[in-house]
Amino acid sequence: MNAVSRAGTIPSSCLHEVFRSAEERERTTGRPVIKLHVGEPYFKPPREVAEATAEAVRSGRTAYTSAEGMPALREALAVKLEVENGHRTSPDHIFVTPGSCQGLAALMQSLAGPGDELLLPELHWPIHLQQCLLAGFRPVFYPLGPHFRPTAEGIRAALTPRTRAVLINSPANPTGAVLAVDEMAAILAVAQEHDLQIISDEAYEHFVYDGEHTSFASLERSLAEHERRVSSTFSFSKSLAMTGYRLGYVVTPHRRAADAMRVVQEASLVSPSTPVQYAGLTALKARDSAVTNAALVRANRDRALPALREAGLLAELPQGGWYAVLDVAGVCDDAAGFVRGLLERYDVGLAPAAGFALRPVVSASGRTLSAEPAAQARTLVRLAFCGDPEELDTGVERLLAYTADHGASGGHP
Ligand SMILES: Cc1ncc(COP(=O)(O)O)c(C=O)c1O
Repeated sequence: MNAVSRAGTIPSSCLHEVFRSAEERERTTGRPVIKLHVGEPYFKPPREVAEATAEAVRSGRTAYTSAEGMPALREALAVKLEVENGHRTSPDHIFVTPGSCQGLAALMQSLAGPGDELLLPELHWPIHLQQCLLAGFRPVFYPLGPHFRPTAEGIRAALTPRTRAVLINSPANPTGAVLAVDEMAAILAVAQEHDLQIISDEAYEHFVYDGEHTSFASLERSLAEHERRVSSTFSFSKSLAMTGYRLGYVVTPHRRAADAMRVVQEASLVSPSTPVQYAGLTALKARDSAVTNAALVRANRDRALPALREAGLLAELPQGGWYAVLDVAGVCDDAAGFVRGLLERYDVGLAPAAGFALRPVVSASGRTLSAEPAAQARTLVRLAFCGDPEELDTGVERLLAYTADHGASGGHP
């Protein structure tokens, strides 16, 4: 028998499983499923972005670029980062990537050394865990504080002599937690004390409803380059609804980090898609759309989610992002069963949070031996509130009706 590869032992993302059951349900019943399990927005990319892409293709601007991406786009991104995010960086440290997902995976590969550990939040986007394992990092999970917020103490408690890097995702998927600048400063101090790298995933940078987004690397703007330790990833997918364009970017803290990242990109991409980079140049001029889109998701949150709080399913409105974590403990002790029943009886999809809290056991050779969910996630589910307002409202109404069914039958409908 062939030996199993490292990738072959890594669990597939729970999100794909939920997609499949919702699609299967639609096929078998012929009825549409309200998809509160997916982070796909109901608003569309700016029209001029489509035109810029088509024009690039029509006029033959389709040759390879460098592995880092077109200089003009990286220069424009450096300006955006300075003006909007408070980064002080240079185009040489920026990499255009096919979505921030690939940027994150590449970044982890560029950072991981043998036996190194990466700290992930105890509730995390499942892809972060896959990327961590594929890069050869060993995952270690740091506890979240009140309201699912990463804390310096939680990170300190998870440190070992092998810790190489910490992943911070603010605004967070799935929790919606947004870190304040003083909380980031405390985490940065721990990273400085223990010589750790920070990976800051800022895919939801524009979606902050209470407080404001702080870009982690802005805390290092007055440091000399060689003293910096924050690598950041950004996306066009969320802010401008450009999910299928596959466009994001990575900002490395210094030349050495950029050199390692370049090797990964040379080997993985050759170059990002050229027409899509032209789309990015135009999208950078459409910043008003990002503000409008954030207001649309915020309106969804403020209209649809309070009823879930009143029903005892949601502790508080998420401060940012596209998702809320609901706790169904009051009605049922098994989130997966709850989600299955909701899909079968009310045609509404939610994602059980078990897949956001897997705890892999990894062998000395880096293979994943098992990956059970943490007990903490047993009654948690994720709801996406970035979709069509009417569907969201109907989905929430049905969710509340289903919850009431559970209550009426003592938790066993
Ligand atoms: C936390 C987080 N980071 C990164 C991404 C990747 O987005 P993209 O690859 O579309 O830029 C997502 C997408 O859902 C996400 O939720």
